[in-house]
Amino acid sequence: MKPFAKRMDEIQSSMTVEIDSLAKRLSTEGRSIWNLGVGEPNFDTPIHVKEAAIRSINKGLTRYTTPSGMRSFKEAVCEKLKRENKLIYDPEQIIATSGAKHAVSNAIAAIVDTDDEVLIPTPCWNTYPALVKYCNGNPVFLECTKENKLRLKAEQISKAATSKTKAIILNIPCNPTGVAYSKEELESFAKVIVENDLYCISDEIYEHLIYTNEPYISIATLPGMQERTIIVNGFSKAFCMTGWRIGYLAAPNKELAKGIAKVQGQTTHHPSNISQYGAIAAVNGPFDSVIAMRQEFSERMHRMSEIFRSIPGIDFLEPDGAFYLFVDVGSYYGKKTEAGTLVSNSIEFCKALLDEQGLVIVPGISFGNDSYVRFSFTASLPTISVAVPKFKEFIEGMK
Ligand SMILES: Cc1ncc(COP(=O)(O)O)c(C=O)c1O
Repeated sequence: MKPFAKRMDEIQSSMTVEIDSLAKRLSTEGRSIWNLGVGEPNFDTPIHVKEAAIRSINKGLTRYTTPSGMRSFKEAVCEKLKRENKLIYDPEQIIATSGAKHAVSNAIAAIVDTDDEVLIPTPCWNTYPALVKYCNGNPVFLECTKENKLRLKAEQISKAATSKTKAIILNIPCNPTGVAYSKEELESFAKVIVENDLYCISDEIYEHLIYTNEPYISIATLPGMQERTIIVNGFSKAFCMTGWRIGYLAAPNKELAKGIAKVQGQTTHHPSNISQYGAIAAVNGPFDSVIAMRQEFSERMHRMSEIFRSIPGIDFLEPDGAFYLFVDVGSYYGKKTEAGTLVSNSIEFCKALLDEQGLVIVPGISFGNDSYVRFSFTASLPTISVAVPKFKEFIEGMK
């Protein structure tokens, strides 16, 4: 047999998706599993969203539509961008996608040529470097260090930018660190992005999940940025619509949107109409369920933080947003677990934790920092109240 295409080797599988599948399998095999690995809210999709989708099915609105998405979907997204983000877009700049992940994929495919460099602050969502490599580009990582509280500094962008640098990918608030930035910090990033003539892919999927009192600022609102930013967003997180596979991108101009629509027309065509009808209802509101969910996430985050604070040698920062706690467990590497397993990196740590306590979390290496592990607080408070003490017990048994 002849070999498969080389590009298949360029892409790594998503460790978070693999871990979630493993947790589901162990659970169907009858093991008690506590899953704090997956980034999927445990709430139901809001009722008015479900009803809108059902109405569309009953009305027979189930035919092919244009690859870039239905006009009514794109208009609703433009309204949202104006109302919430103070950004004016033409519906022809909007592309409906099968989730935000697909929007990121479209954006990268549209701007990254062979050997182009793309700046990616780390820790980062592992999909970004995987997709840059898939498009024959080179990810250039900007390490957000513990000393800098896992925050990016504008100087890192200017130092790393070369004539080959095409774009930067920003994810604010960040998966996995939860870091969000002040207006002054965003201005400092925008300044160097404009100076170096970079595109900016701004993944704003966690914009509604902020636990500080600061309003969300899209980097596209800053001078010189809208014309170089591709905003990526989706409905999975704030509206609990992970399985609906619906998101969008807002392109800096109609030409780029047209190019992306052309590719989409030859690949996925368009995301499900039914999901688009549900998403229109989601962006139009009401938003009580989003507000209630954010409040609940905030309580969970504080509950988890309280337990972590009581464990010696465990270091973490309270997140500004998203729904993850990124915890430094590096001081436990080189020690043995109660069952006698030597742990020397984040994969071994998470594997031993799963084996010995049935607790699922994600190794930091999959986000680019091996000293850390990621806990998601998308599980219920009762689950968290049982699961996190298991982590404490595991740590306390290490010698
Ligand atoms: C930063 C970030 N962007 C995008 C996504 C994917 O969202 P969607 O389900 O809309 O594809 C995720 C999911 O974990 C994420 O963490």
